[in-house]
Amino acid sequence: MTALEKLGFVRGVIFESIISTFSPNGKPNAAPMGVVSEDMKRVVIRPFTTSQTFTNLKVGGCAVVNFVADASTFYKTAFKNETVDNDYDDDFFEKAETIDAPRLKEVDAFLEVSVVKLQEGENRAQVICRIDRWEKGTSRYRPYCRGEFATIEAVIHATRIREFLTQGMESEAKRLIKLIECYQRLIARVAPDSEYSGIIEEINARIDIWKEESSLK
Ligand SMILES: Cc1cc2nc3c(=O)[nH]c(=O)nc-3n(C[C@H](O)[C@H](O)[C@H](O)COP(=O)(O)O)c2cc1C
Repeated sequence: MTALEKLGFVRGVIFESIISTFSPNGKPNAAPMGVVSEDMKRVVIRPFTTSQTFTNLKVGGCAVVNFVADASTFYKTAFKNETVDNDYDDDFFEKAETIDAPRLKEVDAFLEVSVVKLQEGENRAQVICRIDRWEKGTSRYRPYCRGEFATIEAVIHATRIREFLTQGMESEAKRLIKLIECYQRLIARVAPDSEYSGIIEEINARIDIWKEESSLK
């Protein structure tokens, strides 16, 4: 069995992870990104070429692919350098063992990976990585709440809304804003006054700021 098989990967299926890397100036960075494997030996990351993660993979040639289940880590790592503060605590990262990259401390599993091939497309790159080391924690039972899934979906859409508004693609942005409204209604029903409803409120505050910046009303 390969490491990916032991981790529960399925060929061709995208699994959501948090990619942690060092920036060229040595600053640790983390961002949610999907990873996929076609051969069950290597993983492919598809960062937008505008992302810091893309630059870090290109310059540094390595990363940690962290797997976590909690929506708040996805939210925390999706947005940065913005008006809502999200500085990482001192104990958020630790150094990976086999590569020059940070890794998240509290994870369910991780892969330490090195870039073997980087193909740059118009908007996105295809970064093929080999696995140098991996670890899986003892898996914990977590009761399933629909609010968790809805929050992660809302965070994904929010990262695209920001891009669409920056590029003046208003109808695409509006379509995703409507989806987030649906997720907010779901969260209000299944997880009122929860961590999830708090995150959705913050996302809406961010969207209002982006709308104002792009003069979309
Ligand atoms: C679950 C999830 C999956 C995502 N997948 C990707 C992806 O595959 N590629 C990508 O470029 N951005 C993806 N994003 C958006 C990035 O995480 C987001 O743009 C982030 O701010 C990039 O950070 P960076 O500039 O530090 O790399 C995803 C977001 C979420 C919440």
